[in-house]
Amino acid sequence: MWKLISVVIIICVCATYVVGADNDTDPTTEPADAEDYGRKCSCRCGERNEASRIVGGVETAVNEFPWVARLSYHNKFYCGGSLINDRYVLTAAHCVKAFMWFMIKVTLGEHNRCNTTHRPVTRFVVQLVAHNFSFNNFRDDIAVLKLNKPVRVTDTVKPVCLPKNDDKVYTGVKAIAAGWGTVAEGKNHSCYLQEVELPILSNEACRNAKYTPNMIGDGMLCAGYPDKGNKDTCQGDSGGPLSAERSDKRHEQLGVVSWGIGCGRPGYPGVYTRVTKYLDWIRNHVNTGCFCID
Ligand code: ARG
Repeated sequence: MWKLISVVIIICVCATYVVGADNDTDPTTEPADAEDYGRKCSCRCGERNEASRIVGGVETAVNEFPWVARLSYHNKFYCGGSLINDRYVLTAAHCVKAFMWFMIKVTLGEHNRCNTTHRPVTRFVVQLVAHNFSFNNFRDDIAVLKLNKPVRVTDTVKPVCLPKNDDKVYTGVKAIAAGWGTVAEGKNHSCYLQEVELPILSNEACRNAKYTPNMIGDGMLCAGYPDKGNKDTCQGDSGGPLSAERSDKRHEQLGVVSWGIGCGRPGYPGVYTRVTKYLDWIRNHVNTGCFCID
């Protein structure tokens, strides 16, 4: 039991971690373009903006992943999320459970969250649906947030694609996680959106790493480098997307940043919510939003 408790403490302090002031102002008031919000939205999901990417760096290009959302509480950044249609953001249940939904703010189209002059798209949450998640085992760590009004899909704010209903396990796929989380254990959150490429492991390989096998449920997905560690998501990245390029070059979300023991430690790859296991649940809770035709 002590083990479980310590694990939960290690991984859950993140939910209360808030580093760095967040200088958001009121929500933007750009007019909604009614035509974009009908049943059939003619946008394309998952298109990454690759221009001007920093070679060899870990900072993303500006709006490279236009679906990445930042969540703040009491005006402080604390978790990530991803836009999945024009009205809903997918995140981790542990980022929102026990939180008051009306105090959560969602920011989209952002790169440098510390830039006080740039005003990105900001929304409030009008409804929060978290899966039946428990901090005891971190299973079903998934939630959706309904925004107070739809966002206009633009080059800088665009939903990620969701995988098709499939039983693929994605082992060996090179996925990318993005977030403003800490750049090392115990360090500050990043101002600039960071990305890291992480290969997806089989659940078996993950159970054979240093985790106790029953910690890794079927609704989880592990990604990273179990031997050398080093590359990983970390505190503050939770709720953010782990996505991979499809054959048509567009990105689909395969994971939601969920937990890990420390960050980048050998033997402890990052653990993500396995999105393919929750597709029906997601669809059932986001049906008032308009998905891009994909
Ligand atoms: N629970 C953390 C958060 O709330 C995410 C931790 C991810 N850890 C990892 N080693 N991949 O931000």
